[in-house]
Order: sequence, then structure tokens, then C-alpha cells
Amino acid sequence: STSEPLKIMISGAPASGKGTQCELIVQKFGLVHISTGDLLRAEVVAGTEIGNKAKEFMNSGRLVPDEIVTAMVAARLSREDAKQRGWLLDGYPRTFSQAESLEKMQIRPDLYIVLDVPDEILIDRCVGRRLDPVTGKIYHLKFFPPESEEIKARLVMRPDDTEEKVKSRLEIYKQNAEAASSSYSNITKKIDGSRSKEEVFKEVESSLSQLQQSKGKILKSG
Ligand code: AP5
Repeated sequence: STSEPLKIMISGAPASGKGTQCELIVQKFGLVHISTGDLLRAEVVAGTEIGNKAKEFMNSGRLVPDEIVTAMVAARLSREDAKQRGWLLDGYPRTFSQAESLEKMQIRPDLYIVLDVPDEILIDRCVGRRLDPVTGKIYHLKFFPPESEEIKARLVMRPDDTEEKVKSRLEIYKQNAEAASSSYSNITKKIDGSRSKEEVFKEVESSLSQLQQSKGKILKSG
């Protein structure tokens, strides 16, 4: 495409559906998906220094120290594919200091999406969530069961998806959400994430399409 690449941030409580919507956004818009949770989990599995440092924080549902996460995000954003295809930043910034770090690096999105979902739904979504280690796809035992017995047999649960840990992740989210998102209030789009994933995506898709059109126009006239 000739239009300028999109730069999108997606935020929301644990299990609000960020990863699920990102799968759909990537399919339709081809952006580079940068999820700090996924990047950190990959470091843990690979047993790297970052992974070893992050593991205890993640497994107990606490935030990994800013400097670790920020260095990781900065490195990923500066790669050529993200510059060419545009990016979709998922799970970052999560604190005021992370948002400040991005400002210092002059990294700003075109649009800041917040998925809004009530607490009682979030707990159910986390406890039933399962991941396919082969494809990386996100499932839910009740809402999105696996397509085959073969996939079902290999699904894994995240160590931080127990009811107790979800509650503490939610607390931490609430403590930080306002400060982390304050720099983006003029480009924020709040979306009701409690509906079906298709309905949520319809709204996400229309915001991104509009944005893409307006960025194209700026390029043509400029
Ligand atoms: P991270 O992986 O980012 O976890 P999170 O923010 O808690 O978000 P989740 O991945 O739990 O949920 P999601 O919103 O992606 O929902 P999903 O689509 O999977 O972070 C994990 C940890 O890493 C943190 O706790 C922290 O330790 C560390 N970390 C990460 N970023 C950090 C940072 N910036 N700074 C410091 N530390 C950081 O959906 C959830 C479930 O619901 C699935 O089963 C799905 O199938 C189902 N579902 C989705 N949408 C719907 C729908 N519309 N209807 C019904 N079910 C649905």
C-alpha cells in the first residue's frame, strides 16, 4: 500500500480481549503485532537473561520492571518491518513512566484503543483461557473451544490465569491505567469489549479503516 503505515496502541484490563482483537487486526491490516506479554513469555521459554528476570514477576501477576520492558519494546519498534508495515502495540505502556519513555523517544500512536469490559466477565475469560503453543492461537474452553482433539490435547494454561492472580493483575491494572493513558486522551477510542469478538472487531475495523483513509488523504494533498 502507498499510504503511510498505521501506528496503533491497544489497552484494556487483563483478558479484555487485546490479543484476540490483535489477531484479527493483523489479518486485515498487516500491522506488526508487538505484545509485551508475548515477547516476555517467549523470553521465559527461551531461558534468556531477560526471561529469567521477568519470570517471577509474571508468574505472580506483578509488573515486570519498566527498564526491562522498555528496552525490549524500543528494540522491536525500531526494526524495519515495524517502520514499513506499521505497528500495533499491545500491553505497553502500562505505567506512567513507560508512557513517558515513549514520549522521550518521540514514539506516538495515531490511535489509542481501550477495550472496556466489566470485572466479572474478565475473571471467567482468564480462567477458561488456553493457548496453543504450536500456533500461538488464543482459545477459551467455553467461548472458543479448539477445532480438534489434537489441538485440545496440546493446549496450555498460563501460570498467571488462576482466579487469585487474575484479581491481583486487575488491581494493578486499575492502579496504573489512568496515568498510563493520560497522554493519549485526545486520540483515545473506547470500545465496549464485553460483546462478541466479531462485534468488537467491527468497531475496531471501522476506526482503523477511517484512520487509514484520512492518512492517505493527508499524503495525497501534501
Ligand atoms: P499480558 O500478556 O499483556 O497480559 P494481560 O494484559 O493481563 O492481558 P491478557 O493477555 O491476559 O489478555 P488479553 O486482553 O490479551 O485477552 P485475550 O485476547 O487473551 O501480560 C502478562 C504479564 O506480562 C503481566 O502481568 C506482566 O507481568 C508482564 N507485562 C506485560 N506487559 C508489561 C509491561 N508493559 N510492563 C510490565 N510488565 C508487563 O482474551 C482472554 C480470553 O477471553 C481468551 O480465552 C479469549 O479467547 C477470550 N475472549 C476474548 N475476546 C472475547 C469475547 N469478545 N468474548 C468472549 N471471550 C473472549
